[in-house]
Amino acid sequence: MHRSCLFVPAANQKAMAKAGQLGADSLILDLEDGLAPPEKDIGRAAAIRFLRERNDVSCPVYVRINPADTALGQADIRAICTEQPAALVVPKVETGQQLQNVHDQMKSALSGTRKPIPALWAMIETPIGLLSLANICRQGKALGLRGLIAGTNDLVHELRCASSPDRQSILAHLGQIILHARAFGLLALDGVFNDFSDGDGFITQARQGRALGFDGKTLIHPSQIAPANVAFGPTEAAIKQAKAIIRAFSYQKNAGKGAINIGGQMFERMHLDAANRLLAQLATEKSTT
Ligand code: COA
Ligand code: MG
Repeated sequence: MHRSCLFVPAANQKAMAKAGQLGADSLILDLEDGLAPPEKDIGRAAAIRFLRERNDVSCPVYVRINPADTALGQADIRAICTEQPAALVVPKVETGQQLQNVHDQMKSALSGTRKPIPALWAMIETPIGLLSLANICRQGKALGLRGLIAGTNDLVHELRCASSPDRQSILAHLGQIILHARAFGLLALDGVFNDFSDGDGFITQARQGRALGFDGKTLIHPSQIAPANVAFGPTEAAIKQAKAIIRAFSYQKNAGKGAINIGGQMFERMHLDAANRLLAQLATEKSTT
C-alpha cells in the first residue's frame, strides 16, 4: 500500500530512531533537501546503517538520493544500492536518460554481486520534468520505475506561482502527473503538506489528492500518517459497494451482461474490476498486518 509515505531526514537521529514504528506504509530516508550540505556524509552513513539493521521495520524503505548528475548523487547511488533499499527516489528528474544513467550506475556498482538492482521512483518537480513526463515514464518503465512523486514545493518555487492550500495554481500539473502515471501503469504519490500543525488543512488536501487520483501522499511529520491512511484507504461505504457489485455480477441472470442495475445505478464490468481490486487490496493488507 502507498497511502502514507514519510520523508525522514537521514541525518536526524531522533526521527530515524522512531521512523519504522510510526505506521507509515513506506519511508523515504532523505539525503537531498531535508539535509544541509554539511550533513550529507552523516546522513548517507545513517541511511546505510538503517538499511543494514532494519530493526523491526517491516514497511518498504526508499532512499532519496541527491540529484543524480551531481558528484553527491553519484556517491549516493553507489553507496546505497548495495544496501538494497526497496527503491531509490530520484529527485528533479527531467529526462528518461537520467533514469537510464542511475540504472547504469547501479548495475555497475552491483556487478559481481547477486544483488538485484533496486527499483526507482521519479520526483517530478521542475517545468522540464513536467514537459518530459511521457519520455520519463516510457524510458523509466523499462528500468523498474514504480511511480511518480509530485515535488510540490520545488514546483511552486520553480514556477514562481502562488502556494495556496487549495493548490489552484498547480492543479493542472498534478493532473498531468496522474495522467502519465495511469497511462504508463505507474503509481502516483502526492506532494507534502508543509503546515504540519494544521490537521484539518492536511485532511482537506489529502482528500483532494485522493479525488485527483493519487495513490497516496508523501508526508513530513508523524502526525500526518494516520489521517493519510484514512484519506487514501477504502471507506466503509466503498467496501460495502464493492461487495454489492461483486455479488450482483455473480448472479446467473447477470452472467452475460456488460451493464447492470443495482439500486437504480448503472454498474459496468469496469466497476466489477475495481471492486475486485479493492477487495484484493484489503486481503493483502490483512495478511501483512
Ligand atoms: N520522521 C520521523 N520522525 C519525525 C519526523 C519525521 N519526518 N518529523 C518529526 N519527527 C519526530 C521528531 O523527531 C520528534 O521526536 P521526539 O519526540 O523523539 O523528539 C517528534 O516526531 C515530534 O516532532 P516535532 O517536535 O513536532 O517536530 P520537529 O520540530 O522535531 O520537526 C520538522 C519538524 C519539519 C523539522 C520535521 O518534521 C522534519 O524534518 N520533517 C521532514 C522534512 C523533510 O524530510 N523534508 C524534505 C522532504 S519534503
Ligand atoms: Mg524537491
